Amino acid sequence: MRSFAASAFWRALLTALLALCVALPAFAGEDKKPAPARRGILLVAFGTSVPEAVTAIDSLKSQAEAAFPGVPVRLAYSSKIIRDKIAGGGVVKRSPAQALADMAAEGFTHVAVQSLHSIPGREYGDIKATAEAFQAMPKGIAHVSVGRPLLFLPEDIKTAAEAIHKSLPARKKGEAVLLMGHGTEHPANAAYAALQLELWKLDRDVFIATVESTPTLDDVIPALKRAGVRSVHLAPLMSVAGDHARNDMAGDEEDSWASKLKAKGFSPKADLTGLGSRPAVARLWIEHLKDAVKELDQ
Ligand code: CO
Repeated sequence: MRSFAASAFWRALLTALLALCVALPAFAGEDKKPAPARRGILLVAFGTSVPEAVTAIDSLKSQAEAAFPGVPVRLAYSSKIIRDKIAGGGVVKRSPAQALADMAAEGFTHVAVQSLHSIPGREYGDIKATAEAFQAMPKGIAHVSVGRPLLFLPEDIKTAAEAIHKSLPARKKGEAVLLMGHGTEHPANAAYAALQLELWKLDRDVFIATVESTPTLDDVIPALKRAGVRSVHLAPLMSVAGDHARNDMAGDEEDSWASKLKAKGFSPKADLTGLGSRPAVARLWIEHLKDAVKELDQ
């Protein structure tokens, strides 16, 4: 009787120990159990302080939502100057880092970040670095990919030239198009020259100059003269027709492109349509986003 009670005690203890051995690793592993996958998209635009120009960005956002039903699409502005400027008017926009921090806190595990910039300049480099940091960070976002800007790979530049060309107005002899790129001191400024070459393969009367770098308007004016151009359609080579397009390109000030061209005997006509509002071009940013989403699964 006594020995039976003793063996029952030992058997119970053994069972308890065994149960603990089974439960312990599971308990220890609790924290490492992978979180359920949660996908999201973050679009990053340079941003704009012009309320009318926001429609181009909104339209890109709705196209991203339509391409990925059920996947939350967030938006950030990469320009601190723009964010600070519009914050004064009560419009609060997230930086890419703030938007990714929000998404990490909300439990997103897979985020495709799409650059809505034209060239892979400084803004794009910053997005890449920010995305990599969030991927490396404890409790960051396990999988972050970054979609390339409009003019990145050689074939992107070719495809963009075709899409831009397709969306330009029909012209008569003596009429040309001059696209205003932003321009940068970053080596990626070379993308404008590459795009110009591709555009010239399609149409000798489409020209590119930049506001802040090369080629300048003065570089292009002799080429316009040589081509016998009299009338110039001006349009921004930027996702939105913001401050640069409205003032530096189309403005009444005497140093705007429209005024300078008029002073040189051309008749300029401004078209305030950002690339993001040209469906054929907008589609390319969405294609790049699709590649970034695919990359998340690799
Ligand atoms: Co600028």
